[in-house]
Amino acid sequence: MSNFGDEPSMTSQRVSLGPDRRPWVRIAPDGSEVVADTLYDLVGSDWFDELAERFYDGVAADPVLRPLYPDDLDGPTHRLGGFLRQYWGGPADYSAERGHPRLRMRHAPYVVGSVQRDAWLRCMATALAGGGLPPAAESAVMEYFLSAAQHLVNAPD
Ligand code: HEM
Repeated sequence: MSNFGDEPSMTSQRVSLGPDRRPWVRIAPDGSEVVADTLYDLVGSDWFDELAERFYDGVAADPVLRPLYPDDLDGPTHRLGGFLRQYWGGPADYSAERGHPRLRMRHAPYVVGSVQRDAWLRCMATALAGGGLPPAAESAVMEYFLSAAQHLVNAPD
């Protein structure tokens, strides 16, 4: 069964890929276990901006993706960081600035085929690997990106 972000769940058994997953757990530097209800509570606000910064460092060097984005990547970095912080349980600053995310509509001006999707996911996997999450949490976030990126494909191969 496919599992795309904003479609209603097909069965009550479905395991959530997204922000409703819980608990989120990591081990603090002193060895104690930190348990949180949301990814935002686990990692804090800046983590999302730092993830977006690492992601756009990759985009800047990517021959497939770089031409899609404006010269100045500060705006995209701010928007992606804000969107992800909101999605994963933080304050709704993205929607205050941009309105409803409507990501499929916002990506309609760009050709998003499997090549662009895979380049995007490679950049995000690298960025995410630098985020210091425990493996289970990192996999859960990456599963979400796989699903979200597939949902945004708007061009056939
Ligand atoms: C599948 C491959 C993808 C490509 C090629 C792509 C490309 C783009 C481009 C060219 C922009 C315009 C830059 C800007 O003005 O911010 C953009 C915006 C954005 N993208 Fe993507 N994107 C992809 C996947 C994703 C995914 C999976 C997410 C979220 C999980 C995402 C979230 C966003 C957000 C939040 C914005 C800013 C929207 C706005 O407020 O205008 N993108 N994307």
